Amino acid sequence: MPTTEARRRGWLITFEGLDGCGKTTQISRLASRLRQADYVVLVTSEPGGTTVGEQIRRILLDVTNNNMVPLTEVLLYFASRVQNLEECIRPALARGEVVIVDRFTDSTIAYQGYGRRLGPALIERLHELLCGGVQPDLTILLDLEPEVALARATHRNQHLDDAGQRQLRMDLQPLEFYARVRAGYQELAKKYSWRYRLIDASQPPEHVEAAVWQAVRGMLEQAGAVQD
Ligand code: TMP
Repeated sequence: MPTTEARRRGWLITFEGLDGCGKTTQISRLASRLRQADYVVLVTSEPGGTTVGEQIRRILLDVTNNNMVPLTEVLLYFASRVQNLEECIRPALARGEVVIVDRFTDSTIAYQGYGRRLGPALIERLHELLCGGVQPDLTILLDLEPEVALARATHRNQHLDDAGQRQLRMDLQPLEFYARVRAGYQELAKKYSWRYRLIDASQPPEHVEAAVWQAVRGMLEQAGAVQD
């Protein structure tokens, strides 16, 4: 049960990892556990999370936009993020809620900075300029071999594709792209070790869930927000 004082501050938890790493499942399990423990939880995702953001997401993932240059991609991801921050994330943090975001600026660093080779410095600079110093309290990195992640994501997308649900532009990259993205995430986990928890996502979902819960409880305990 959270204390009143601890509730006022709010927590930002971000989930990161390659496509197919299991973020969606783990986020919904974490949100349920937190709600059971009486926390108010906002779950949101990027790109998307708002009406404007969902429209930007469609442009970003549309396979017909195969001539989009990396910098345009970066600016669109940030456009979606700024909208989400102002419309949803900041107000929820101000209300003292636990905000769980499916991808945040570290995705842009990993995918565009390392994957598209724009370098991490530009993205970090843009984050500072555009996102006003918002930093996650905790980042869960669901780490997976690129081969495994790609196989899982391809399977999922084929499935959804038949139903005409999902557009795939970011999923059509060669394996080396995902290897660079994973290496980028590993660099981030070292650089921001104080907020990163790297979890082996090849384990059964229940084991991943337990590791995520342990990390989140650790964060809340440190903030004095858990009463036993
Ligand atoms: P999702 O499937 O996890 O919602 O993410 C959509 C795709 O967008 C995924 O392939 C990762 C990619 N992406 C980036 O390349 N840069 C970013 O900044 C974000 C947030 C996502």
